[in-house]
Parts: sequence; structure tokens; C-alpha cells
Amino acid sequence: MSSARSEIFRQDLFRGKTAFLAGATSGINLAIAERMAALGANVFVISRDSAKVAAAVGRLGGNASGCAADVREYEAVAGSIDACAARFGAIDFVVSGAAGNFLAHAAELSPRGFRTVIDIDLIGSFHVARAAFSRMRKPGASLIFISALQSFTAYPQQVHVCAAKAGIDSMMRALALEWGPAGVRVNSIAPGPIRDTEGMARLAPDAAATSRITSGIPLGRFGEKADIADLAVFLCSDAAANISGALMVSDGAGSAGRNW
Ligand code: NAP
Ligand code: COA
Repeated sequence: MSSARSEIFRQDLFRGKTAFLAGATSGINLAIAERMAALGANVFVISRDSAKVAAAVGRLGGNASGCAADVREYEAVAGSIDACAARFGAIDFVVSGAAGNFLAHAAELSPRGFRTVIDIDLIGSFHVARAAFSRMRKPGASLIFISALQSFTAYPQQVHVCAAKAGIDSMMRALALEWGPAGVRVNSIAPGPIRDTEGMARLAPDAAATSRITSGIPLGRFGEKADIADLAVFLCSDAAANISGALMVSDGAGSAGRNW
């Protein structure tokens, strides 16, 4: 992170706060965890692979913990939320970003392939939100789903992800209605293409695909993990105290309209 960027938010902004992050042992969600930890938060991360969890916790430093849990298993998610609360107390911020993606033509995608992505992205996100709610510090908690442009724009070979992410954002708005009175803000972040991530390695595996994507982005660049981490920090800060039920897009205007 550039030093100018690291000075955007006050250094101790999240001191005494606790964040639970699902799917945060690599990529964008790990970058969010790192940014929150750097601002003083206690962070608790989960993903399926215990070796990845251990590596992430080591990287996140002293106020970090985590455990292996598959978001498709409600009891495993609830157990990890309990472990987070036992270690750090009430949870202030929840980031639900576990996801699976691959390119597959709809006519060839097996029903189990479609269901797998729905299970991880959509049902897994409900599991995280549902299990976390009773442990959130209320009022004041912030729940963020990591969505994608597929939520509102169709892409070929992405029928499974389009359905899953649209479901997440519809659920986000429903939860914002139900949990607003308790003082929980619920929002989604839809990143555009983000450099150096597993997601882009899968969706834009070669230089030609990368340059095609960049040429369609008015700001002319791929997003950075830090762009999304800073947006998540903003959404958890008091600067976003009146923002709930919102889908925040960070894509350099790539989805703003047809660029021709
Ligand atoms: P990534 O590095 O593959 O991150 C996915 C994370 O989710 C990993 O920590 C993975 O760890 C975990 N995970 C996967 N399945 C899980 C499951 N069933 N239960 C628990 N954890 C699980 O991918 P990324 O590219 O950074 O993407 C992160 C998020 O951003 C996703 O929600 C994605 O849809 C969204 N997004 C990404 C882009 C992009 O350009 N990369 C663009 C738009 C949206 P384990 O393998 O250990 O489980
Ligand atoms: N094309 C078509 N179908 C595919 C596929 C691909 N590239 N990859 C998996 N599938 C199908 C499988 O064939 C299987 O269906 P089947 O039993 O009818 O054949 C189904 O999806 C489940 O596959 P499986 O490998 O058992 O799932 P898993 O639970 O072990 O892994 C995935 C989940 C498939 C989403 C895997 O890619 C993953 O773990 N992804 C996490 C990381 C990631 O995707 N990061 C980017 C986030 S944007």
C-alpha cells in the first residue's frame, strides 16, 4: 500500500473493534482483513483450508485468529462465529466474501456445478449473516457482502455467478430492512476486475483477455485489492453511518454504460 493511501484513515480508527471475515485467507478479502488489522481491529478469518487460515492469521499479526470452516455448513459457520466472540467479544464488522467461480457455458454446466456456486456464494452468505447477527454489537454493526458486477450485468459463461450474486444483493436489501431497526447496516461491494486475484486468473487467464477488459474501463486500469479494502473500511466507519441497503460499485465506470 502506498504511504499516501495508508494515511487516508486515522491509524487507530478500528482500535477495540472486532471484524469477522468469511473467505479471507487470500485475495480481496484477505486484503480487507489486513487493512482492518492495520487500523487496530481484532480480526477473525475463516476459509475451508486450515493451512491457509494459519498462514493468513500469521500474516495478520497479534490481534488475529481464525479457524477452518466451509460456509456451506451452517453449524461450522456458527461455531466459527462463537469462537470469534469467545476470543474477542461482540462483533462490530462482518465481511462475507467466500465465493467460487469458473467459466462454463450454461448448456454444458452440470446442475451440481450451478448448485455448488449458489451454495457457496448465496447460501453461504446467508449462513454467515444469520449466524453473526446475534453476536453483533448493536447498534453500530456493519455487515458487508462481497458481490460482483455479475449481480446486475449479464456475462457469458457466468450464469451460476450472475444468479448467485444477484441473490446476494437482493438478500442484502432485505436484511437492511429487517436489521436496520436494530442498528445494523447492511451493504454490498461489487468490485470490478481486480488485479492479481484468483478471480481474475480464472476469468481473464491471458494477456489478450486482460487488455480487452482494460480497454472497456473508462478509468483505464484494473482495480487494486486496496481499492476494495478502503471501500470496506469506509463502509464500516462512522462516515457511512447513514448508508445501508446500498450496492457500492468500484469498477472505474466499467459497468456505467456501453462505452461505444
Ligand atoms: P480468492 O482469493 O479465491 O478468495 C476466495 C476466498 O474464499 C478464499 O479465502 C477461499 O479459501 C474462500 N472460500 C472459497 N470457498 C469457500 C467455502 N466454501 N467456505 C469458506 N471459504 C471459502 O478470490 P478473489 O478473487 O479474491 O475473490 C474474493 C471475492 O471477491 C469473491 O466474493 C469474489 O466473487 C469477489 N470478486 C472478485 C473479483 C476479482 O476481480 N477477483 C471481482 C468481483 C468480485 P479456501 O480455498 O481456503 O476455502
Ligand atoms: N467448469 C464446469 N463445471 C465445473 C468446473 C468448471 N471449471 N469446476 C467445477 N465444476 C463443477 C464440477 O464438475 C462439479 O459438478 P459435477 O459433480 O456435476 O461434475 C461441481 O462443479 C462441484 O465441483 P467440485 O470440484 O466438487 O467443487 P468443490 O466444492 O470442491 O469446489 C469450486 C468449488 C468448483 C467453486 C472450486 O473452483 C473452488 O473451490 N473455488 C474457490 C476459489 C475461487 O473460485 N476463487 C475465485 C472467486 S471469484
